[in-house]
Amino acid sequence: SIELSLRPSRLSQYIGQAKTKRNLEIFIEAAKMRNEPLDHALLYGPPGLGKTTLASIIANEMGVQFRTTAGPAIERAGDLAAILSSLEAGDVLFIDEIHRLPRSVEEVLYPAMEDFCLDIVIGNGPSARSVRLDLPPFTLVGATTRAGLLSAPLRDRFGVLSRLEYYDTKDLCDIVERTSDIFQVGITRDAAIEIARRSRGTPRIANRLLKRVRDIAQVKGKDEIDLEITQEALEMLQVDPVGLDHIDHKLLLGIMDSFKGGPVGLDTIAATIGEESQTIEDVYEPYLLQTGFIQRTPRGRVVTPKAYLHFQREVPGA
Ligand code: ADE
Repeated sequence: SIELSLRPSRLSQYIGQAKTKRNLEIFIEAAKMRNEPLDHALLYGPPGLGKTTLASIIANEMGVQFRTTAGPAIERAGDLAAILSSLEAGDVLFIDEIHRLPRSVEEVLYPAMEDFCLDIVIGNGPSARSVRLDLPPFTLVGATTRAGLLSAPLRDRFGVLSRLEYYDTKDLCDIVERTSDIFQVGITRDAAIEIARRSRGTPRIANRLLKRVRDIAQVKGKDEIDLEITQEALEMLQVDPVGLDHIDHKLLLGIMDSFKGGPVGLDTIAATIGEESQTIEDVYEPYLLQTGFIQRTPRGRVVTPKAYLHFQREVPGA
């Protein structure tokens, strides 16, 4: 599908994340020279930065199968045992949202990661006994929004840890141009920069905005995406000039209007604006923190003078 082909399949096609890419290049080459699977790798960082893409690239570069699942999908130890025992030598097993694995499942994972074996209990009561099954060597690639959400024993079993960072405008612009090429639609440089600037450092958002801008350009009979149609489209999509969307606005204005700018606890502000605490914490807050629109204090979240200025409001106490 076109959706799949948007993802680069080789490390050389992957834009941005220079540090992670450089490290992976070396670790992959070394593992291949030794004819061994790559060490288990943990990719962490905000959603939409390319963790799944990198995991599939690792499998491609190693020349092995890419098997994928997610923490919440594995409910019992037996579910994981079934997946592990179906792996072939060298395979990459990708577990998204790995921090959401139940503790009982994690315990099956430890010996699998460390010694490539599976301890299973057969029977029950007095006749129950434990048998150890060998597994083929494999690479576990885990993804999580925050490494701190993982239990320490699980985190300690990864040999490669990579934190993905928000992309700069230049890298996002290259991604928008690459995706436009795949869509076979023309885009001017200034339009690509405009989309990049409003994508909150996130390729997934850049590609989503590009698709919607393309829709609007197409319906208006434009044969190329230019700056004017881009600005018009982004306004329709309620994405402001620095990329904040409707929910960011609700969050910031909610803290200003209902809590005098804070501090306010996460659950309180979540209830006030009718969004999930977890979504605010994992999806919205990281970018607002990084760009200095809010700060975390021991007593809760506060909006900064920068946020008041963004909405052309007077800064309290200034
Ligand atoms: N598409 C989405 N993310 C990408 C990236 N980091 N490099 C190239 N294409 C992408």
